[in-house]
Amino acid sequence: MADIEQKDLMEKIVSLAKRRGFVYRSSDIYGGLAGVYDFGPRGVELLNNLKRAWWQANVYDKENYYGLDAGMFKNPRVWEASGHTSGFSDPLAECKKCNTRIRVDKALEAIGVTADEKMSEDEINALFDAHRAEIACEKCGAHDFSRAKKFNLLVKSNLGDFASEGGEPVYLPGEACQGIYLDYKNIVDSMSPKIPFGIAQIGKAFRNEIAPRNFLFRCREFEQADTQLFIRPNENKEAYEALKKEHMAWLASLGIRQENLRLKRHENLVFYAKDAWDIEYRFPWGFDELEGIHDRSDYDLTQHQIFSGQDLRYTDPETGEKYVPWILETSMGMGRLFLAVLADAYREDEMGGEARVYLALAPKIAPVKAAVFPLLKNKPELVAEARELYAALKKEIPQIVFDDNGNIGKRYRRQDEIGTPFCITVDFDTLGEKPELKDTVTVRDRDTGEQKRVASGEVAAFLRDKIRA
Ligand code: GAP
Repeated sequence: MADIEQKDLMEKIVSLAKRRGFVYRSSDIYGGLAGVYDFGPRGVELLNNLKRAWWQANVYDKENYYGLDAGMFKNPRVWEASGHTSGFSDPLAECKKCNTRIRVDKALEAIGVTADEKMSEDEINALFDAHRAEIACEKCGAHDFSRAKKFNLLVKSNLGDFASEGGEPVYLPGEACQGIYLDYKNIVDSMSPKIPFGIAQIGKAFRNEIAPRNFLFRCREFEQADTQLFIRPNENKEAYEALKKEHMAWLASLGIRQENLRLKRHENLVFYAKDAWDIEYRFPWGFDELEGIHDRSDYDLTQHQIFSGQDLRYTDPETGEKYVPWILETSMGMGRLFLAVLADAYREDEMGGEARVYLALAPKIAPVKAAVFPLLKNKPELVAEARELYAALKKEIPQIVFDDNGNIGKRYRRQDEIGTPFCITVDFDTLGEKPELKDTVTVRDRDTGEQKRVASGEVAAFLRDKIRA
């Protein structure tokens, strides 16, 4: 495999994603909207495969996890209780020469200086002033910036016309997990779960990011796959370790290379966390956060108990003991996972004397599991046989395509580029030109280019095995 310059890799991924129908800029024909993306026909299949695999691991494979899909709009008091209206902000400064906005904490981090999340505006400015000479505007190179101001990341809506009613705005969710805390009582009352139990959800989040960047990495609209494990107070140690291990193993089970994943502890804790670790992936620009694993203690339920006036204590069904459970959270951006999977699978090599690009996606997450071809598109008997096989396979495995465009070499290249693991060709031997090969087809492996003959009636079982593996 050719070594790909990491600095070029992002550009190649973004270009492939658009060219091959994975990801487009939102409102592309109007020049886009920073920090918002659309998943195209191949992208939505890959994204749905990732979500299904995640749901399988976090709901179906467990006995004590409950699925949820909470509404996005919430009572405005929720974001006060959660601490987001006061504590969910990034320090922002503006270049005095070209008005480019920067995140001061990220600019400091880039030169090895850590700004604590809990610092006041004055404290951040003191740190910023001490290092101004080392920080250059990424657009014009100037070192002259405005004072840093804390900028709240919550996105306001005009639901209920809060401005004219003089009330609090109804915000879009800054983090999807609040829906889980709000429905914790409903789930306890309706499902009678026994602690420890979990609630899992994939939900949208919106953040007024000052500098959305790196494609799907830092967006203003994104999806979070969250699990919240409700445990007895102070019984967090073992369960926390187990979550870290389990989530690392799950990412590797998607085919992400182990050496590109690592666990890192946060030096600075966000306002709700007692302990926080990140699973980091080696993105093209270096290791960066893919999933957060947080010990939130009883922070969230206690806050909602105070603000709502409702009793959110759990009652032990055997002893009658009442307590506010502690929460261990895992939270992963689906867009970041999507980008990590693409970056990890992107390959360039040479096959049959020709340069090629392919995505080495695991069959279970590949957007197309197999493509069925007639060897030649102008031979009706080949086309009819290939269409029959395609129709039969598609009933069992929906992510199958039929392709008779261009010559067979071009079809292979096209399928390689979207990560289709198998190409199935109906040729003259399938029709009985060599009687001993009648009703067999060639199955070509994307990664090696090797072909083998498989009985047409066994192709579905062959594919099912590969997808399950
Ligand atoms: N409920 C906890 C929470 O929201 P977070 O660390 O702010 O914690 C969790 O976010 C995950 O959501 C991150 O690890 C990342 O994968 C994803 N995420 C956060 N901000 C994002 C953004 N602006 N764009 C895309 N994904 C983001």
